[in-house]
Amino acid sequence: MEAARRATAQAHPNIAFIKYWGNRDDRLRLPANPSLSMNLGALRTVTTVTFLEEEGPDVLILNGIRVEGPARDRVEGFLNYVRGEAGFRGQAVVESNTDIPAGVGLASSAAAFAALAVAAAAALSLDLSERELSMLARLGSGSACRSVPPGFVEWVAGERHEDSYAYSIAPPEHWALWDVIAIVSEQHKVVSSSEGHRRAATSPLHALRVVTASERVARCREAIQRRDFESLAEIAETDAIWMHAVMMTSRPPLFYWEPATITVLQAVRRWREEGLPVAFTLDAGPNVHVLCPGEVAHEVAQRLGRVPGVRRVLTSGPGGGASRIPGS
Ligand code: DP6
Repeated sequence: MEAARRATAQAHPNIAFIKYWGNRDDRLRLPANPSLSMNLGALRTVTTVTFLEEEGPDVLILNGIRVEGPARDRVEGFLNYVRGEAGFRGQAVVESNTDIPAGVGLASSAAAFAALAVAAAAALSLDLSERELSMLARLGSGSACRSVPPGFVEWVAGERHEDSYAYSIAPPEHWALWDVIAIVSEQHKVVSSSEGHRRAATSPLHALRVVTASERVARCREAIQRRDFESLAEIAETDAIWMHAVMMTSRPPLFYWEPATITVLQAVRRWREEGLPVAFTLDAGPNVHVLCPGEVAHEVAQRLGRVPGVRRVLTSGPGGGASRIPGS
């Protein structure tokens, strides 16, 4: 009897220090600029893909609940690509479990498509390298390509599908850098990242942000290699502000911040002036990621928990890459 076309994989989300915002090609998710991130080991998505013999619409089950609509369609579109590569037509059942709140700027799609890429490729016995899996994950969600390699990861922008991929610049053990996430809202964001990427080029600031991004990536890479928190703090904050400036000046404008977002940003700046090593970054949402060396993470989490408007705090150190779960 033929082996079951089934595999399970896991992946972590990632937080970008230098952001991906805007594509040169929306369909292939070829980004306008390179980016750099760290995987978040404490948060995880585990996905099982089972391909059946018969053809039919794919089934998506997320945390035990069957999902229809655009989220399912996006998964099916992605799996159509994988099926095409494998020369297989059967329907897929995708069961995914995650502890990441969706749609609040915590890169849930990054972990989702990184795990899905690894599981789907394994289920159809496609023997892909880390680089090829990263390229594949990118087609599902741009930032997902950075959740495939382990630790601290750079995404080479590239100009074609074959040269737009992510690779690890340092393993998770390289630096005990923590992300303490201040959750100020758990509401699903109104405008998706995909729509935001399409709007980026309508901002007069976009072109300037893009031409200066490579230099920020180089400085950030160096700061990580040297474990230089002060340099990382300066460059990550600058880059996040740049991205939000582009969002706010797009047409129509995109505002992701809430009043509590500003309260947290100001508190972080004040604490740094007082000598606590902290820096902020934000994705496409109102929640604030506060970066700090591991030894102060507990103190930072306690302080953030006391800031008015902060509902809860999540903490994570660096994490590994996406991988198939053995025996699955
Ligand atoms: C703000 O990767 O979620 O988090 O490719 O449309 O799925 P899609 O977009 P996505 O965009 C992430 C944007 C960001 C910045 C970043 O992670 O680099």
